[in-house]
Amino acid sequence: MKTLLIVILLSLFPLLVGCTANGELKKTKLTNQKVVIAHRGASGYLPEHTMASKAMAYAMKVDYIEQDLVMTKDDHLVVLHDHYLDRVTNVAEKFPKRSRQDGRYYVIDFTLAEIQTLDMTEGFSIKEGVLAANYPDRFPIWQSKFKVHTFADEIELIQGLNKSTGKNVGLYPEIKSPIFHILNGKDISKAVLLELKKYGYSNQDSKVFVQSFDANELIRIKMELMPELGIDLKLVQLIAMTSWKETVNIKDGAAKPYSYDWMLKPENMSKIAQYANGIGPWKPMLITQSENSKFAKSNGLTEAAHKAGLLVHPYTFRADKGEVPKYAKDFPTLLRFFYFEIGVDGIFTDFPDKAVDVLSSEAQN
Ligand code: G3P
Ligand code: CA
Repeated sequence: MKTLLIVILLSLFPLLVGCTANGELKKTKLTNQKVVIAHRGASGYLPEHTMASKAMAYAMKVDYIEQDLVMTKDDHLVVLHDHYLDRVTNVAEKFPKRSRQDGRYYVIDFTLAEIQTLDMTEGFSIKEGVLAANYPDRFPIWQSKFKVHTFADEIELIQGLNKSTGKNVGLYPEIKSPIFHILNGKDISKAVLLELKKYGYSNQDSKVFVQSFDANELIRIKMELMPELGIDLKLVQLIAMTSWKETVNIKDGAAKPYSYDWMLKPENMSKIAQYANGIGPWKPMLITQSENSKFAKSNGLTEAAHKAGLLVHPYTFRADKGEVPKYAKDFPTLLRFFYFEIGVDGIFTDFPDKAVDVLSSEAQN
């Protein structure tokens, strides 16, 4: 009997080992498919969208680095989140007479040469005449020297690092406010696509996701611009709350906020899948929370997006004080919850090293 038991166990041994190895392989593969997107670079540590923050993100072993893109007066693409210069540069001090009536300094009113005379810093605001950092615990404002750079500068940095390290870190450019640019006589989407094509990004295998909040513009990119340029890149539909007035459409000469409400309905994921490869929702859009906000679970949007063949890359994960919701005990728990319980495919984060750690420790467990 004992001998029989040993024989049975021995005959099962390869199968058992195979199962474990297979299971681990499968887990590693699944974990490896999940990505970390450095939101505005390693912006939790160095001023957003500076070359330094991009190099730091690269060294943190991220999969993608984000570029928010706006256009200058002389048609250069620069890497800035706002189409204003006043939140992250000393434009008000250097060009005091160049604001518009609303008091803002528009990138589109300045040449690249003018913009490159400015100093760049951590995001700040002015309250009652006093300048204050938007994130007081981050890199100090006006410390060290940073400059605004072009999309081409950043592509060359990332491609150079890809060559010197043998890695293949991707780009994740966002076309900012396409309608605003078009109303000011600039086809920013076409300019972004031309730049990507020039640097060798041309098809669905290219390591790039082009993102925008503007659904109509993404459809134009998919159906008109990319075929015209002979390229076909992966697209991501960003989703905003309608109340943010993120996108404005011009109808009968009047500006109307675009309604995103349809994008929050699981049954509409297949509509997005007709033109995009993924969605980029605000993270609360993927969950329902208990009344006391201590518990959260999927609301079904991620599953519906996956069923429609879409990737899900929510934004923005921040480890700063007060930024971790009550349903997670700390930042790594929040990341694990979204990666492994909600099941998202990637996340935008200002603290990319922490997301890389979560993915690599999961792969090892
Ligand atoms: O593009 C994803 C995320 O960056 C969207 O938010 O405002 O930081 O561009 P925002
Ligand atoms: Ca963005």
